[in-house]
Amino acid sequence: MTPAQIDEVKRSFTLVAPIADQAGILFYTRLFEIDPSLRPLFKGDIEVQSKKLMQLIAVTVNGLDRLETIVPTVQALGARHAGYGVTDEHYDTVAAALLWTLEQGLGTAFTPAAREAWTAAYLLLAGAMKAAAREPSPVS
Ligand code: HEM
Repeated sequence: MTPAQIDEVKRSFTLVAPIADQAGILFYTRLFEIDPSLRPLFKGDIEVQSKKLMQLIAVTVNGLDRLETIVPTVQALGARHAGYGVTDEHYDTVAAALLWTLEQGLGTAFTPAAREAWTAAYLLLAGAMKAAAREPSPVS
Protein backbone atom coordinates (compact mmCIF):
# COMPACT_ATOMS: atom_id res chain seq x y z
CA MET A 1 0.00 0.00 0.00
CA THR A 2 1.16 3.54 -0.67
CA PRO A 3 1.31 6.06 2.20
CA ALA A 4 -1.56 7.93 0.52
CA GLN A 5 -3.69 4.77 0.54
CA ILE A 6 -2.92 4.19 4.21
CA ASP A 7 -4.01 7.76 4.98
CA GLU A 8 -7.16 7.25 2.93
CA VAL A 9 -8.12 4.09 4.85
CA LYS A 10 -7.44 5.78 8.19
CA ARG A 11 -9.41 8.88 7.19
CA SER A 12 -12.45 6.95 6.01
CA PHE A 13 -12.33 4.60 8.99
CA THR A 14 -12.75 7.55 11.37
CA LEU A 15 -16.13 8.06 9.64
CA VAL A 16 -17.12 4.39 10.10
CA ALA A 17 -15.92 4.06 13.71
CA PRO A 18 -18.91 5.93 15.25
CA ILE A 19 -21.33 3.62 13.40
CA ALA A 20 -19.24 0.46 13.85
CA ASP A 21 -22.03 -1.55 15.52
CA GLN A 22 -24.51 -0.92 12.72
CA ALA A 23 -21.83 -1.40 10.08
CA GLY A 24 -20.90 -4.79 11.55
CA ILE A 25 -24.49 -6.04 11.50
CA LEU A 26 -24.99 -4.68 7.99
CA PHE A 27 -21.84 -6.53 6.90
CA TYR A 28 -22.99 -9.93 8.21
CA THR A 29 -26.50 -9.45 6.83
CA ARG A 30 -25.00 -8.75 3.41
CA LEU A 31 -22.49 -11.61 3.71
CA PHE A 32 -25.24 -14.17 4.37
CA GLU A 33 -27.34 -12.69 1.56
CA ILE A 34 -24.46 -13.18 -0.89
CA ASP A 35 -23.73 -16.69 0.35
CA PRO A 36 -26.24 -18.25 2.77
CA SER A 37 -24.05 -21.36 3.03
CA LEU A 38 -21.62 -19.34 5.19
CA ARG A 39 -24.17 -18.83 7.98
CA PRO A 40 -23.69 -22.25 9.64
CA LEU A 41 -19.94 -21.62 10.02
CA PHE A 42 -20.78 -18.99 12.63
CA LYS A 43 -21.66 -20.70 15.89
CA GLY A 44 -21.85 -17.71 18.21
CA ASP A 45 -23.95 -14.57 18.54
CA ILE A 46 -23.59 -12.40 15.43
CA GLU A 47 -23.67 -9.15 17.42
CA VAL A 48 -20.71 -10.34 19.48
CA GLN A 49 -18.96 -11.60 16.35
CA SER A 50 -19.61 -8.29 14.67
CA LYS A 51 -17.92 -6.38 17.51
CA LYS A 52 -14.89 -8.70 17.32
CA LEU A 53 -14.61 -8.11 13.58
CA MET A 54 -14.87 -4.34 13.88
CA GLN A 55 -12.31 -4.32 16.69
CA LEU A 56 -9.89 -6.36 14.61
CA ILE A 57 -10.37 -4.02 11.66
CA ALA A 58 -9.67 -1.05 13.95
CA VAL A 59 -6.43 -2.65 15.18
CA THR A 60 -5.40 -3.41 11.59
CA VAL A 61 -6.19 0.07 10.33
CA ASN A 62 -4.20 1.63 13.19
CA GLY A 63 -1.27 -0.64 12.46
CA LEU A 64 -1.10 -0.18 8.68
CA ASP A 65 1.91 2.12 8.95
CA ARG A 66 3.63 -0.21 11.46
CA LEU A 67 2.93 -3.61 9.91
CA GLU A 68 5.38 -5.44 12.19
CA THR A 69 3.07 -4.62 15.13
CA ILE A 70 0.06 -6.41 13.60
CA VAL A 71 1.60 -9.30 11.65
CA PRO A 72 1.62 -11.81 14.58
CA THR A 73 -2.03 -11.01 15.41
CA VAL A 74 -3.08 -11.38 11.78
CA GLN A 75 -1.17 -14.64 11.33
CA ALA A 76 -2.73 -16.17 14.44
CA LEU A 77 -6.16 -15.00 13.23
CA GLY A 78 -5.59 -16.63 9.83
CA ALA A 79 -4.52 -19.91 11.40
CA ARG A 80 -7.67 -19.94 13.61
CA HIS A 81 -9.80 -19.32 10.51
CA ALA A 82 -8.60 -22.56 8.94
CA GLY A 83 -10.10 -24.26 12.00
CA TYR A 84 -13.42 -22.46 11.44
CA GLY A 85 -13.72 -24.14 8.03
CA VAL A 86 -12.87 -20.96 6.09
CA THR A 87 -11.41 -21.45 2.60
CA ASP A 88 -9.48 -19.09 0.31
CA GLU A 89 -12.59 -18.51 -1.86
CA HIS A 90 -14.55 -17.29 1.16
CA TYR A 91 -12.19 -14.33 1.41
CA ASP A 92 -13.50 -13.03 -1.94
CA THR A 93 -17.07 -13.16 -0.68
CA VAL A 94 -16.06 -11.33 2.49
CA ALA A 95 -14.28 -8.70 0.37
CA ALA A 96 -17.46 -8.07 -1.62
CA ALA A 97 -19.58 -7.76 1.54
CA LEU A 98 -17.04 -5.48 3.20
CA LEU A 99 -16.73 -3.08 0.27
CA TRP A 100 -20.51 -2.98 -0.06
CA THR A 101 -20.85 -2.16 3.65
CA LEU A 102 -18.28 0.63 3.40
CA GLU A 103 -20.18 2.04 0.46
CA GLN A 104 -23.42 2.05 2.46
CA GLY A 105 -21.78 3.54 5.54
CA LEU A 106 -19.66 6.18 3.84
CA GLY A 107 -21.91 7.23 0.99
CA THR A 108 -20.19 9.82 -1.20
CA ALA A 109 -17.11 9.70 1.08
CA PHE A 110 -16.46 6.24 -0.38
CA THR A 111 -14.67 7.72 -3.37
CA PRO A 112 -12.92 5.61 -6.03
CA ALA A 113 -9.62 6.35 -4.21
CA ALA A 114 -11.14 5.12 -0.93
CA ARG A 115 -12.38 1.94 -2.62
CA GLU A 116 -8.92 1.29 -4.07
CA ALA A 117 -7.23 1.93 -0.74
CA TRP A 118 -9.62 -0.38 1.15
CA THR A 119 -9.21 -3.07 -1.51
CA ALA A 120 -5.42 -2.87 -1.08
CA ALA A 121 -5.74 -3.03 2.72
CA TYR A 122 -8.09 -6.01 2.54
CA LEU A 123 -5.84 -7.88 0.11
CA LEU A 124 -2.92 -7.35 2.45
CA LEU A 125 -4.86 -8.61 5.45
CA ALA A 126 -6.51 -11.53 3.66
CA GLY A 127 -3.21 -12.50 2.00
CA ALA A 128 -1.46 -12.73 5.36
CA MET A 129 -4.38 -14.68 6.88
CA LYS A 130 -4.53 -17.15 3.98
CA ALA A 131 -0.76 -17.70 4.07
CA ALA A 132 -0.89 -18.37 7.81
CA ALA A 133 -3.79 -20.80 7.31
CA ARG A 134 -1.57 -22.87 5.00
CA GLU A 135 1.23 -23.14 7.58
CA PRO A 136 1.27 -26.29 9.68
CA SER A 137 0.09 -25.43 13.20
CA PRO A 138 2.93 -24.95 15.69
CA VAL A 139 3.75 -27.97 17.85
CA SER A 140 4.09 -25.98 21.04
C1 HEM B 1 -9.90 -9.98 6.64
C2 HEM B 1 -10.73 -10.91 6.93
C3 HEM B 1 -11.26 -11.33 8.28
C4 HEM B 1 -11.17 -10.77 9.52
C5 HEM B 1 -10.46 -9.49 9.93
C6 HEM B 1 -11.89 -11.65 10.44
C7 HEM B 1 -12.01 -11.46 11.81
C8 HEM B 1 -12.54 -12.37 12.69
C9 HEM B 1 -12.45 -12.29 14.13
C10 HEM B 1 -11.79 -11.15 14.91
C11 HEM B 1 -13.07 -13.40 14.65
C12 HEM B 1 -13.24 -13.73 16.14
C13 HEM B 1 -12.58 -15.03 16.54
C14 HEM B 1 -11.06 -15.02 16.46
O1 HEM B 1 -10.42 -13.99 16.78
O2 HEM B 1 -10.51 -16.06 16.06
C15 HEM B 1 -13.53 -14.18 13.53
C16 HEM B 1 -14.21 -15.40 13.61
C17 HEM B 1 -14.75 -16.05 12.55
N1 HEM B 1 -14.66 -15.70 11.23
FE1 HEM B 1 -13.54 -14.20 10.47
N2 HEM B 1 -12.42 -12.70 9.72
C18 HEM B 1 -12.06 -12.54 8.41
C19 HEM B 1 -12.40 -13.34 7.35
C20 HEM B 1 -13.30 -14.37 7.43
C21 HEM B 1 -13.79 -15.12 6.30
C22 HEM B 1 -13.34 -14.94 4.85
C23 HEM B 1 -14.68 -16.00 6.77
C24 HEM B 1 -15.50 -16.96 5.94
C25 HEM B 1 -16.77 -17.02 5.97
C26 HEM B 1 -14.74 -15.84 8.23
C27 HEM B 1 -15.48 -16.61 9.09
C28 HEM B 1 -15.33 -16.62 10.47
C29 HEM B 1 -15.93 -17.63 11.35
C30 HEM B 1 -16.77 -18.83 10.91
C31 HEM B 1 -15.56 -17.28 12.67
C32 HEM B 1 -15.93 -18.02 13.97
C33 HEM B 1 -17.25 -17.57 14.45
C34 HEM B 1 -17.72 -18.34 15.65
O3 HEM B 1 -17.11 -18.21 16.72
O4 HEM B 1 -18.70 -19.02 15.53
N3 HEM B 1 -13.90 -14.84 8.57
N4 HEM B 1 -13.22 -13.54 12.35
